[in-house]
Amino acid sequence: MSLTLEEISYQYESDKGAVYHNYLSIYEKYFDKYRNTLTNFLEIGLWKGDSIMMWREYFESGNLIGADILDLSHIQLPDTQMFVCDQSSRTDLEELVNKTYTNYDIIIDDGGHMMHQQQITLATMFKYLSPDGVFVIEDLHTCGNPSYTRAGDTETLNMLYTFIETGKVVSNCMTANEIAYLEKTMDTVTIEKGNVSEIAFITKKKK
Ligand SMILES: C[S@@+](CC[C@H](N)C(=O)[O-])C[C@H]1O[C@@H](n2cnc3c(N)ncnc32)[C@H](O)[C@@H]1O
Repeated sequence: MSLTLEEISYQYESDKGAVYHNYLSIYEKYFDKYRNTLTNFLEIGLWKGDSIMMWREYFESGNLIGADILDLSHIQLPDTQMFVCDQSSRTDLEELVNKTYTNYDIIIDDGGHMMHQQQITLATMFKYLSPDGVFVIEDLHTCGNPSYTRAGDTETLNMLYTFIETGKVVSNCMTANEIAYLEKTMDTVTIEKGNVSEIAFITKKKK
């Protein structure tokens, strides 16, 4: 029988597990359907590589892409590639897509956790999420923390709750075209709670 994500996490000491964030049983609700069918997956924010190693063991198919402002190319895993990319730069994100895929089933933002980084990444990358795909923003407890917010920036949790309540996207970090695309294609936004933080799961409409 296959190991659960939580069981897999023990050997990689990922802080996504019950030892800290306790995100993994939540992740399984959204990712189980992709376990054997995954095509392309992107995680932004790799740190020592614990999570990408865990994902590689969990998904039995598919290509994994890891991106970080740091060079983690020394991490070698089957069907997995690492890229240097600054998620606050639309140019870097578009270059990443040019070098990899335009159709991701799953995109996880576990990068710098600053408001503008989260919103620029969502605005730039959502068009590369496949229909019915899942876009995840981790560690939303950074919202409201001045260290993670440039003066005047929209808080990501407020932006997501506004979408849940009104279907509108309000963000000072996005262009009008980006907002229009998100409003047209975002389906559900679910804010889940881990041990120390909220985590958002945003699904894309099927058509
Ligand atoms: C929370 S750690 C990632 C942890 C990893 N996903 C795990 O679960 O083991 C955050 C990572 O985001 C990266 N990071 C910070 N700012 C970034 C940026 N602007 N663009 C891309 N990655 C960034 C950091 O270098 C760090 O490796």
